[in-house]
Amino acid sequence: MPESDLEVHLTDADLAAGLRQDARRGLTASPKWLPPKYFYDARGSELFEEITRLPEYYPTRAEREILTTRAGAIARLTGAKTLIELGSGSSEKTRLLLDALREHGTLGSFTPLDVSGAALRHALTDLRRDYPDLHLHGIVADFVHHLEVLPEAGTRLVAFLGGTIGNFTPAERAPFLAALRARLAPGEFLLLGADLVKDPAVLVPAYDDTAGVTAEFNRNVLHVLNRELDANFEPDAFAHAAVWDDEREWIEMRLRALAPMRVRLDALDLEIAFAAGEELRTEVSAKFRREGLTGELAAAGFAVRDWWTDRAGRFALTLAAAV
Ligand code: SAH
Ligand code: AVI
Repeated sequence: MPESDLEVHLTDADLAAGLRQDARRGLTASPKWLPPKYFYDARGSELFEEITRLPEYYPTRAEREILTTRAGAIARLTGAKTLIELGSGSSEKTRLLLDALREHGTLGSFTPLDVSGAALRHALTDLRRDYPDLHLHGIVADFVHHLEVLPEAGTRLVAFLGGTIGNFTPAERAPFLAALRARLAPGEFLLLGADLVKDPAVLVPAYDDTAGVTAEFNRNVLHVLNRELDANFEPDAFAHAAVWDDEREWIEMRLRALAPMRVRLDALDLEIAFAAGEELRTEVSAKFRREGLTGELAAAGFAVRDWWTDRAGRFALTLAAAV
C-alpha cells in the first residue's frame, strides 16, 4: 500500500504519550479506570474481529443485517460523494455502503479513520485490492481530538458504526456529537450505529462469551501497559467481568484482581496497589433507546431522517442530517 494513502495524525509516540497521561490519571483514581481506546493494538484489533464472529456477540450481525437491507436507501437519500468512517477497524460491513454508493453513481472517495494504524493498514490493503478504482485515503487519528482532519470534499456521509458511540460516557458523547456537527455543512449526513437496551440475559453473554475471547480482549489492555509503560501486570491474575448497570443502561467491562498485589509501571515511576477483588473499569458500552438518542442528536444539531433496526429489534442504524 502506498504510504501516501495513509495520513498519520497520531503517531505511536503520540499514542504512548497519551497512554502515559491516561494511565497515571486512571490508575491512581478511585475506582481505577482506563479509556477503551488502548485495547486496539494489532492484537486487540484482531481479538475484536474475533469477537464480532462469536455466537453471543449479536451487534455486528444485527448491524450487517440492517446495512444489507438499507444501504440502497442510504445511497439514494444521501447521494454521498465522500464516505468517511470513524473507528473504522476492518471496514468489513462498510463494504455494503461502498457498493451501494458506487451503484448509485455518486461515490468518489472513502476515508476510514482509526486510532489503530495496524487495523487501518490491514483494511486499506484489502480495500485497495477489492476497490481498485476508488480513491482511498486512510487517517490514523483520534476521533475525539482530530476531527479537523476530515476531508472537506463533496457531500459527505460520516459513518460511525458498530455501536462505538456507546463506548463514550454520556458526558463525553455530547461534546463529541457537537464537535462532529461543527465539522459538517447543513445537509451532510451522519450514519450512526447504536446498540439498544435489551434483556441483560442477552447483553451480558455478549460481553462474557463462553470461549473467553472477550476476556482475552479485556486483558489485552494489560499487555499494552506492560509493553508501552514497562509495567509488570500479570494479566492472568485478573478476572474478566461484564456487569450490566440497570440505572445507567450500560455494560461495564472490568478487570478484577484475584489477590492483593502491587504493580510497577517503570515508565511512569509509579507503583499501584490492588486489594483482592478490586476492580479496574476498562470500558463502558452504553445501550440506547430511540427517544434518548434522537434527543441527543437534536441537541447536537442533527435531525434524524431515518431509524432502522434489525428484525429482532436489537440494534439501530440512524441516518441523521446536519441542520
Ligand atoms: N467500526 C468497526 C470497528 C468497531 S471496534 C465495526 O463496526 O466493527 C472500535 C474501533 O474504534 C476500533 O477499530 C478502534 O481502534 C477504534 N477506536 C477506538 N477509540 C478510538 C478513538 N478515540 N479514535 C479513533 N478510533 C478509535
Ligand atoms: C467497539 N465497541 C462498540 C465494542 C462494544 O460492544 O462496546 C467493544 C467491545 N467490548 C467488548 N466486546 C466488544
